[in-house]
Amino acid sequence: MNTSILIAPPALVRRAEQQDTQAIQALDSAHFIHPFTDHGDLATRGSRVITHADNIYVWDSEDHKILDAMSGLWCVNAGYGRKELADAAYQQMMTLPFYNTFFQTTNVPAVQLATKLAALAPKVGGRRFEHVFFSSSGSESNDTNVRMVRRYWDLLGQPQRKVIISRNNAYHGSTMAGASLGGMSGMHAQGDLPIPNITHIEQPYFFENALPGESEADFGLRAARWLDEKILSIGADKVAAFIAEPVQGAGGVIIPPSTYWPEIQRIVDKHGILLISDEVICAFGRLGHWFAYEKFGMRPDLVTFAKGVTSGYIPLGGVMVGDRVAQVLVDKGGEFNHGYTYSGHPVACAVALANIELMERENLVVQVRDDTGPYLAERFEELRHHPLVGTAEACGFVAGLLLVKNKATRELFDPDLGVGMMCRAHCFRNGLIMRAVGDRMIIAPPLVMTRAQIDEMVALIRRCLDATVDELRAVGQLG
Ligand SMILES: Cc1ncc(COP(=O)(O)O)c(C=O)c1O
Repeated sequence: MNTSILIAPPALVRRAEQQDTQAIQALDSAHFIHPFTDHGDLATRGSRVITHADNIYVWDSEDHKILDAMSGLWCVNAGYGRKELADAAYQQMMTLPFYNTFFQTTNVPAVQLATKLAALAPKVGGRRFEHVFFSSSGSESNDTNVRMVRRYWDLLGQPQRKVIISRNNAYHGSTMAGASLGGMSGMHAQGDLPIPNITHIEQPYFFENALPGESEADFGLRAARWLDEKILSIGADKVAAFIAEPVQGAGGVIIPPSTYWPEIQRIVDKHGILLISDEVICAFGRLGHWFAYEKFGMRPDLVTFAKGVTSGYIPLGGVMVGDRVAQVLVDKGGEFNHGYTYSGHPVACAVALANIELMERENLVVQVRDDTGPYLAERFEELRHHPLVGTAEACGFVAGLLLVKNKATRELFDPDLGVGMMCRAHCFRNGLIMRAVGDRMIIAPPLVMTRAQIDEMVALIRRCLDATVDELRAVGQLG
């Protein structure tokens, strides 16, 4: 097998890969254990080898150009090929590639980024975010949250407040705490999860959980009150926090009714429990705001971020720590025995600063809020008329379609048919990356996507939906 391509310079690798996809696939299957992948399947079918990218497009090793409607994994907000970000990493690597931030040591990019994030985080209801804890991922940040909220209640003399409430079908990461906070049954089934003192309520998914004839507004209130019922059943004095994504991402882009978040806020305030807004997907312009809590009128105490903070160019995550927690933990807590080698990594922080500067210069957040986001919603609304589409929703730059067997009755397909995966395969064949969550087809495009590119993407989506209809008809699953 030709392994020389793996040690060649990048330009040569690109050319060699185009000739040698099978060699790479064989090495990949032999040596690389991938996240969320069935390796039996990988060995038979081989990975898609992505070799390079520009703007909103990626190319594979067979030189297919693919429109990436998922921004990598909800993260390449500034789009691919941004030289400013590469330059920032290079400059910082040549100046100070690493130094730790433990034991009363700091570095300039980490301080500058913490200051910048504190300035960007909107103040709501008198609550401010003046402090940041850095990690390298969303999962690590949510592990930090678990330790931080329990430490907070310990310091307040209420150590019995341990329980963290989350929601079914939520995604909060893949570490022990992250996967436990998440509400994915498939993840809980592997590794004896959830860990103790984490429990879940139902998600605010109107299509699945509303009663016949119930309005969205009424459903939003009823769904929020599941939290109240849960708190009362546990005992409010035992509950530390409620964690949720403003819009559930990996669960299939579940956008709650507008009544949901205000009612959740009322409930957490009534019981005095902490609110954690997991904005790993939703922050940094994804919903048309630097932080999504502002859009929904939430007043969180902690905000998880990652992904878009560096547009995915380098790993960085963290927690915005609101005044309520900071005043106890930072001002009175003594040493917090928690931290990661790469907390405040200077190169990651330098890239984040360059990314935020770029997003400000190009006005990307406002563009999504006022122009391209509403346009995407308008174009998605048109897809609702497609014979395969039961529901179509968009919020900022995330959107989802539910594929149904019968449009009039909204009857779902047999899950074993894998209609979502069928549609996803048509997307790849037609040069489009869309994600399937069951039979929900979802997107989260790069924020640099223009109106013309939205048109191009919607035309591709329509073509893939048509191809899925044809395939379903051919196998007798649609009339
Ligand atoms: C809302 C949310 N929280 C946490 C995570 C975990 O982030 P990471 O994969 O960086 O650990 C994700 C990842 O998709 C996420 O969507």
